[in-house]
Amino acid sequence: MNHAMQVELGQELLSALDGRRTALADDLFRNPVSDYVSADQVKLERERFFRTGPLVMGLSCDLPAPGSYMTNDFAGPPILIVRNAEGGVNGFLNVCRHRGTRVAEGCGVSKDRFTCPYHAWSYDLDGRLASIAERRSFGDIDLADYGLTRLPAAEKDGLIWVRPSAGPAIDPDAQLCGLGPELGSYGLGSYTHYETRVLRQPLNWKLVIDTFLEVYHVPVLHRNTIAPLLHGTAAAFRGNGPNLRMAVPRKTIGDLRTTPEPDWNVLRHTAVVYVLFPNVVLIWQGDHVETWRVYPAGDGANESLMHVSLYAPEEPATEKARRYWDKNMDLLMRTVQDEDFPLAAGMQRAFGSGAQDHVTFGRNEPALAHYHRAIRTELGLMGG
Ligand code: FES
Ligand SMILES: [Fe+2]
Repeated sequence: MNHAMQVELGQELLSALDGRRTALADDLFRNPVSDYVSADQVKLERERFFRTGPLVMGLSCDLPAPGSYMTNDFAGPPILIVRNAEGGVNGFLNVCRHRGTRVAEGCGVSKDRFTCPYHAWSYDLDGRLASIAERRSFGDIDLADYGLTRLPAAEKDGLIWVRPSAGPAIDPDAQLCGLGPELGSYGLGSYTHYETRVLRQPLNWKLVIDTFLEVYHVPVLHRNTIAPLLHGTAAAFRGNGPNLRMAVPRKTIGDLRTTPEPDWNVLRHTAVVYVLFPNVVLIWQGDHVETWRVYPAGDGANESLMHVSLYAPEEPATEKARRYWDKNMDLLMRTVQDEDFPLAAGMQRAFGSGAQDHVTFGRNEPALAHYHRAIRTELGLMGG
């Protein structure tokens, strides 16, 4: 976020705190309970969002060097994402063209080849079939016809995008609707991936995202964890197409009042939550970045899988630095996994009780309304 934008945001947040105001939606938003439980809707979501994409599948720093790779099975198809020798990002189906074995697992660095663990066919970083063991048994097949199946992939503003199935090239600018330069200004390419955890929860995938989209609950549910750090009464909100940004002042934001504006570092005093539509929450945490990449799981609408990642501005050089990031990860887990998710699991079960056919987002919860309006619009369900 450039300095002019930071100053604008700082002024907005200070004046909201002074006037005991927060960003407001124009109206209440009534979100149908079916949004969280409908098997038909989740089928549509799997097809429209998770099969067709595109999706943000990582930050540039997840693939720091030529040969760096990561795999992802949560969208549905098995996906392999690789940084090639020229520094570009390739997406492939992680499926050997001999008989279908996965050619890579987890993440890591491959020198220049992915060798299938079954019969050792090997592929280069651009997915070309480089060699076949016992070559003569395969007659005159042309290696060029047996490369890994390519998926559209793109990298811009520190984000890595992949479309989980064949389709048009990805245009990150069109996806981000103007949010790209702001995200780019964080310099996410030079961050370092510190830790990723995989969580499975008995929650609709959008209910996981909802957890991050209002501060109304912070002074109540999180009174013993993050409430001492964040103001729970004021937030700034802006939508960028289906994406959004919600900024929350830290308790330290008052320091700005005694700092000359040209010296303001507003980001130090805020938590900034971005939704990279449809399934990624990226949070600027004052001195580091977290991401939540969330996917539907199981057979119906009531389960989700997610990657929770913490990224630090630089490689921790000392034990003390490691302890600091561990503490941040612990606070995150205590807040979300121990406080938000048990409550949300109760909500998910209660959605089936017939108590109500919709939930109500107040005007003080504009990000929730924006997100669910965007979901319903994309799925053609608005007004339905
Ligand atoms: S399945 Fe990969 S080499 Fe046989
Ligand atoms: Fe929360």
